[in-house]
Amino acid sequence: MSVYRLLPARPFASYRQYLEHHGGAPIGEWLSERDPQSILDEIGRSGLRGRGGAGFPAGVKWRTLFQHPCRERSVVCNAAEGEPGTFKDRALLRSNPYAGLEGLFVAAHVIAASSIHIGIKEIFEPEIARLEGALQEIRSMGGDGLPPVTIVPGPREYLFGEEKALLRFIDDGIPLPREPEYPPYQQGLNSTPLSPNPSLVNNVETFSHAAAIARHGAEGFRALGTEDTPGTILATICGDVKRPGVYEVAAGTPLSDIIDEQAGGATQGGVQAVLSGVSNGVLMPERLGTCADFGSLALAGSGLGSAGFIVIGKGRSIPQITRDIARFLYVESCNQCSACKHGLRLASSAIDELFDTELASEDDIERALYGARSAPQANRCYLPVQGSIVIPSLIERFRDQFDAQLENPEPPLNPFQFPSLRDLDATAHVFTYDDSPYRKRPDWTYEGEDGEAGIEAEATPEAVRLSSDVAELLRERALTSGTTVDRLVDRLLRAALEE
Ligand SMILES: Cc1cc2nc3c(=O)[nH]c(=O)nc-3n(C[C@H](O)[C@H](O)[C@H](O)COP(=O)(O)O)c2cc1C
Ligand code: SF4
Repeated sequence: MSVYRLLPARPFASYRQYLEHHGGAPIGEWLSERDPQSILDEIGRSGLRGRGGAGFPAGVKWRTLFQHPCRERSVVCNAAEGEPGTFKDRALLRSNPYAGLEGLFVAAHVIAASSIHIGIKEIFEPEIARLEGALQEIRSMGGDGLPPVTIVPGPREYLFGEEKALLRFIDDGIPLPREPEYPPYQQGLNSTPLSPNPSLVNNVETFSHAAAIARHGAEGFRALGTEDTPGTILATICGDVKRPGVYEVAAGTPLSDIIDEQAGGATQGGVQAVLSGVSNGVLMPERLGTCADFGSLALAGSGLGSAGFIVIGKGRSIPQITRDIARFLYVESCNQCSACKHGLRLASSAIDELFDTELASEDDIERALYGARSAPQANRCYLPVQGSIVIPSLIERFRDQFDAQLENPEPPLNPFQFPSLRDLDATAHVFTYDDSPYRKRPDWTYEGEDGEAGIEAEATPEAVRLSSDVAELLRERALTSGTTVDRLVDRLLRAALEE
């Protein structure tokens, strides 16, 4: 197996086994002898691009930190893995936690960071345990002088993985994105007006590739993958395929090969569409020959993102899938930027109405488009931009299905489970799905976890049928005013009637 591949055939049982594979000494023995500038040059030459979604060149980010005038710097590993359809970070941590940890120590050495944090969801228990064990092994094999590492267990929220929210969570325990003017490489952990303390934030796969590049050089890494995206990618394939799972392939492998050769081909009568997480435009079957790298997928109207490919078979209802995606983005929006929550609420509720015989109306599809497109205004983070791309792309590509849904607003016969991936049985090729997106409310409480009645029961007495966006709005307003929906409606109607 190439030293640049991250996933071993069988999980590494120990750091010693990892070292045998790489044919070198423990990191604690050689890192301090290496010149930070030369490692930085090697990372730059490798062309490594971030694997957390945006594909930003790692060398550029590392150099910004390296040159930053503030001496107080930190390294932060993003292991939150919240993108629907993605499981690759957990697969990596389960079978090879050593590469990510080595990459973190390499980065800390290069930018002279005094601390390292790993942000990871608290529900990722096996991965946290694996990281803790691996850390102990590395320390016990000459790693005592390496900087301290803090594992920070975080909440389930999608925004926990957004880098500015990740920093906020580590600092204050709140997973909400900070102001966009201050990206982590300018304002990091524990910053003050006099000391910005920049942080280097990368995805765990990015750090893992960096470890191999630091050990073996940039040239071999570049020999894999494409000019645009060197190296391998860890692709998650889920949905309507025979062998769902996480597969490591050279970047630039055609998507059709990943689906057919690795994942055994599509079920449900063949591929109807492929989504790359919920952040990019939909890919149609005629584009499946596209190379899976950042540039090629962007040219095809989609994106590589975190290489989580959701395969949708021909028997599925695209309006239903769009409804679940719109609701996910609306619910996960944190309401710090009003156009984001408002636009996504509008999109989500308009698509919901297409499934309601009493509420479905001619303008639902246009309202959904308008809501999604208007969401990104003065946004602190990229979440509403995702909604403004993925929702219209599905509606525009599958307009006939939306029109048919409007004609016949019935629930779908063959629903597609929203791909919030909870666990993977890698041997049986089976993902377990998390049902929490279906239970999470727009105010971030969960149905079934607090015994409260759901919104429909509370906001719509038998005699009054509210449209879903008004009901959602009332619930949010009631919560922020510290009252109940019943009392709020009563007060508002009383005031309106007395006018
Ligand atoms: C809503 C949202 C959620 C995100 N979730 C994750 C995540 O779970 N893991 C991750 O690595 N990046 C996530 N990102 C991307 C990070 O903000 C950031 O770009 C990434 O950690 C940078 O690392 P990279 O350059 O190595 O890709 C998310 C971004 C957004 C807008
Ligand atoms: S853009 Fe949306 S999700 Fe991002 S911080 Fe603003 S309200 Fe929250």
